[in-house]
Amino acid sequence: MKFGIIGAMNEEIERMKTEMTVLKTHIYATVTFYEGTMHEKDMILCKCGVGKVNAALTTQILIDKFATTHILFTGVAGAIDESLDVGDLVVSTSAMQHDIDVTALGFKKGQIPYFEGSSDFKADKDLIEIATTVAKEKTDRHIVQGKIVSGDQFISNHDYVQTLRKDFDAACVEMEGAAVAQVATLNDIPFVIIRSMSDKANGEASMSFAEFTVLASEQSHLLVSSMLKYIN
Ligand code: ADE
Repeated sequence: MKFGIIGAMNEEIERMKTEMTVLKTHIYATVTFYEGTMHEKDMILCKCGVGKVNAALTTQILIDKFATTHILFTGVAGAIDESLDVGDLVVSTSAMQHDIDVTALGFKKGQIPYFEGSSDFKADKDLIEIATTVAKEKTDRHIVQGKIVSGDQFISNHDYVQTLRKDFDAACVEMEGAAVAQVATLNDIPFVIIRSMSDKANGEASMSFAEFTVLASEQSHLLVSSMLKYIN
């Protein structure tokens, strides 16, 4: 087993980096990959940068150059599920792009045209279970297993939150997960995304994001680290 661990921002990987034993550092396509171990597991840690293109590129490199067997994505998101508060957690059951829209040609919202298979990429059942178990053990937060939707926008609009609920039944929104999910799926690599809510994607989202990102990232880190300890 070799785990590819991805965060989008510095805050999301910094703590992880201090806890792992870094054996070697690599740079591909401007992304830095930290190769090493944590809790006796082989892992590669990286910051992919914001957005779906960065996330897709980084995931493919993790698979091609490092032969990672499992992908864990950790970070913050905007809550869409009404039961979620800032600080609460979402474990992905699947991930989908909310901003792909070829409805003009008769495709459903979020559907990738002429693509074989579902555009709602399913996370790995075992990883979902492990993530949920450690989240319950390590935090007293509300945990939702649900669909994560991703797009190349920071959402700060209550009307769009309603749309994401209605069109996708989404638990939370962020900017990378579906790209990681698609690349992992096409390469037959199991993945899970764990997101800590930094905001509610509404009019106050940018302030909430600024205030809670460090805290929420800390929590995501704790969960990924605990997952590595838990996995045999
Ligand atoms: N990541 C954290 N909060 C977000 C939001 N409101 N929209 C998109 N990505 C996010």
